[in-house]
Amino acid sequence: MELVQPKTVSPEQVALLRNESLPAEQRPPLSQVLKLVLPTLEKLGLSDLDRNKLTKLRENSVISDFPPLKNDTFLRVFQGKPIDHIPIWMMRQAGRTLPEFNAVRQALSFFDLCDNPFGSTEVTLQPLKHYSIDAAIIFSDILIIPKVMGVDFIMEVGKGPQCITPLKNIEELSRLKKVDGSEISLVSNYDAIFLTRMALNGDVPLIGFCGSPWTLMVYMIEGTGLSGNFTQVKKWINTYPTESKFLLNEITKVLILHMKNQIKAGAQVIQIFDSSADILSKDDYIEFSLPFAFILATEIKAAFKETPVIFFPRGQYGALKEIITNPVYKVFDCIGLSHGVDIQEVREWGKSTGKVFQGNLDPGVILGSEEIIIEKTKKMVENFGTENYIANLGHGVWPNHEIKKLQTFVDTVREHSKKMISKK
Ligand code: CP3
Repeated sequence: MELVQPKTVSPEQVALLRNESLPAEQRPPLSQVLKLVLPTLEKLGLSDLDRNKLTKLRENSVISDFPPLKNDTFLRVFQGKPIDHIPIWMMRQAGRTLPEFNAVRQALSFFDLCDNPFGSTEVTLQPLKHYSIDAAIIFSDILIIPKVMGVDFIMEVGKGPQCITPLKNIEELSRLKKVDGSEISLVSNYDAIFLTRMALNGDVPLIGFCGSPWTLMVYMIEGTGLSGNFTQVKKWINTYPTESKFLLNEITKVLILHMKNQIKAGAQVIQIFDSSADILSKDDYIEFSLPFAFILATEIKAAFKETPVIFFPRGQYGALKEIITNPVYKVFDCIGLSHGVDIQEVREWGKSTGKVFQGNLDPGVILGSEEIIIEKTKKMVENFGTENYIANLGHGVWPNHEIKKLQTFVDTVREHSKKMISKK
């Protein structure tokens, strides 16, 4: 085995990093930082933050117990129904731009927050207080899946997630753990989805999500999503294609279970984030990413025909025409677009398949002046048109985005598209 060994982190460093900014004894108790979720906890008899009670409530409930939807604009696009404005949400809308998110992060480290249904629900609700968005996305992370499979991560301040136990060679595939959905962090995620649906009280639909099999493989082998030339994972696919596909298949199986469980818990739309799609050539994308995302979406649709699936092949341009025009890929109801695409060209491709598109304002525009944000947002909306379209950024919200400028983006989409639709 000639693969260069990825760096590992010492147990002392891990202990330090797990604490992130605040040592455990200085962290405020979670009960002190919860606000938005409190009325729902009271109503459901969960003021004691009893996790077992929450799990039981979820298990004993049925979909019809959820409050009826008041703003269904987002879902109407998938159903081809008339709308009065273009729906909008923002990838990574929950997070460090919001002061109240940071307050919750004082109480819990990043992955502890992912594993806490009460905290996750709280931060899922936060962006709705700032932006007139048409969907909530459950707070979690794509990396909870590698973690339950035995590839552990920590959140390193300023650096993002770092893997402590990356797969160093193909022999290590034998250490992957079997996953059955009863793992505490998965149960917490399903409980958070259930609790969020209750707390949303039908205001907007709730999006569930996962990383694509390919993107998770990159993290499990490279240990990070930003690793220069991606030498480890490129060596795997070009030296051991069979073993690579074995790993992709193992990840896919877990994701099928996870996405079905999210929908059963209350997720109304699923987004598959293929955030590392850009690092593959067209042919390698069609060999190592697309088939596994396709199997995942096919299995979701086989079990839940009505649940829309959004696929986001971030920065993958070579295979985009194939994904949009080949009717095989109709299991992807919507394709998320990065800001590098030519909107008009993609629109032409989508005509034959009736694809819905999502995107694609360059997040960098949000750093600009109000005038330019408004101008570029209007132009994007006009280029896409008002049908089969969900507005979003071309990638996620950045930590240095200002709330006010994100509001300008959201409000411009809503106001401008309202005018466009009423003129029709
Ligand atoms: O969209 C949302 O607001 C829902 C929550 C969400 C998070 N991560 C929370 C988060 C979602 C959908 C994700 C997905 C995710 N996680 C992706 C796919 C999307 C993408 O950006 O391409 C990826 C690649 C990850 C892995 C991950 N998690 C990275 C690379 C980072 C660091 C990035 C950064 O902003 O520094 C995270 C951390 C993370 N995930 C934060 C949040 C709110 C910031 C965490 C913090 O420090 O408190």
